[in-house]
Amino acid sequence: MALVNHTGPFDFVIFGATGDLSRRKLLPAFLRRFHAQEFSDDAQIICVARTALNTEQFREQTEAALREFAPETAQDEQTLHHFLGLLTYITLDALQPGGDWQALKTLLATNDRPRVFYLATAPALYSPLCEALARHDLINQHSRVVLEKPIGVNLETAQAINHGVGQFFPEASIYRIDHYLGKEGVQNILALRFANPMLEKLWSSEAIAHVQITAAETVGVGSRGSYYDESGALRDMVQNHLLQMLCMVAMDAPASLGSDDLRNEKLKVLNALRPMTPDMVRRNVIRGQYVAGELKRKDVPGYNDDLGTGRASNTETFVAIRTKIRTARWGHTPFYLRTGKRLATKTTEIVIQFRPQVWPIFTNMPSPGRLVIRIAPREELSLVTAVRDPGAGGFRVRNAKLSMSYENAFSVTYQDSYERLLLDAVRGDPALFIRRDEVEASWRWIEPILNSWRHAMTPLEPYRAGSWGPASTRALLARDGALWHEDMLT
Ligand code: BG6
Repeated sequence: MALVNHTGPFDFVIFGATGDLSRRKLLPAFLRRFHAQEFSDDAQIICVARTALNTEQFREQTEAALREFAPETAQDEQTLHHFLGLLTYITLDALQPGGDWQALKTLLATNDRPRVFYLATAPALYSPLCEALARHDLINQHSRVVLEKPIGVNLETAQAINHGVGQFFPEASIYRIDHYLGKEGVQNILALRFANPMLEKLWSSEAIAHVQITAAETVGVGSRGSYYDESGALRDMVQNHLLQMLCMVAMDAPASLGSDDLRNEKLKVLNALRPMTPDMVRRNVIRGQYVAGELKRKDVPGYNDDLGTGRASNTETFVAIRTKIRTARWGHTPFYLRTGKRLATKTTEIVIQFRPQVWPIFTNMPSPGRLVIRIAPREELSLVTAVRDPGAGGFRVRNAKLSMSYENAFSVTYQDSYERLLLDAVRGDPALFIRRDEVEASWRWIEPILNSWRHAMTPLEPYRAGSWGPASTRALLARDGALWHEDMLT
């Protein structure tokens, strides 16, 4: 059994515990970590929601969810039942006066252990919930609050949430989650860059022609249509996950891995992003929406049919952005961000494209080398380099791939990024959570894009489900003489 860093006893309260996030992600993540003996049965997980259930009924529902979403771990019946025994359910409508707060208070009687409140609820409830926690005297110096995204829908609403929650919790106790930071492949960017000086020496516009950051999904909007249609890909993925990955790639070395050192460096990147003017949005941002197409040899409907509202939505399910970072390190390197639903394949990856040879002495130079950091579906690092082709006559050069797959190299991996992040919150390590100024800086950059779309009525470009997005996405890179990864030859 791998050595794990045991958490010690804690109290963890999930508000919105009957919701999708809790069933699919939070409780399965806890079960896996319990199975790995990262915490023991002196921990308490209190599940709170409006639905009238007793603890027995909630445990039954959770058992079914765990068998579905953590099947390999739930097979261990003894661990499963032991874990279910740590769950208590409280029916509570936080917005109604007179709810059963006393039950929660009784369960939280021990004052000296970490106490985490996880708000897996609509963001409109964040401030009222914190206010209620304070009113019922449930916040102590060991308390932390974890906020799910979205933190607002623009700068103003993000500030309002931050202000509201900030009245009851100090910033150091507010953990804004971005589950991409819990991904092994994203965290490894730090190791790759700052534990390998030879790479860091190349890490600038001098050697890097461009950077591509892609989070492509094959799924459509599923049952989340009403949320997604209000949000769109820019708010749902770019404002948080893609910008966080960009920060990891572009930031300078932090003085330490301490949470503030790390977050200060990320913040500098967000603040250095070239601001978007309406003209720049028109030239550098593509918004698309999927129409019916084919995925894995199956016909799939378009976004409007998926939504099933009977009207034509104007929400984007795809965004591609070309941007620059105004620093001495990155000034000449375009960064391309791209995300969308119903794309050709599920992949999250970062491509670092190196510059070509200045004076090529080989007549048949292949495309210049690149480093590919694949984060999903399976983490892999690969470096495409030129080698002499031993089969060819004369001196011919072609590209070959050096690669390292995590699956083959390591036996210990977390199956889901929530596993890492939930227990970081328990331990009180905020390094992989987003600080207030980061959230606000990212909205400050995103908002002009939203405004400009609204004012200029930017058309939505259709793309077939199963493709790589609207046709103009290629042209965005072609302008710089670049290709998207899937169009590159080896
Ligand atoms: C979520 C978005 O934050 O991330 C979803 O709201 C998206 O729309 C999901 O599907 C993607 O996460 P992952 O880990 O599957 O890449």
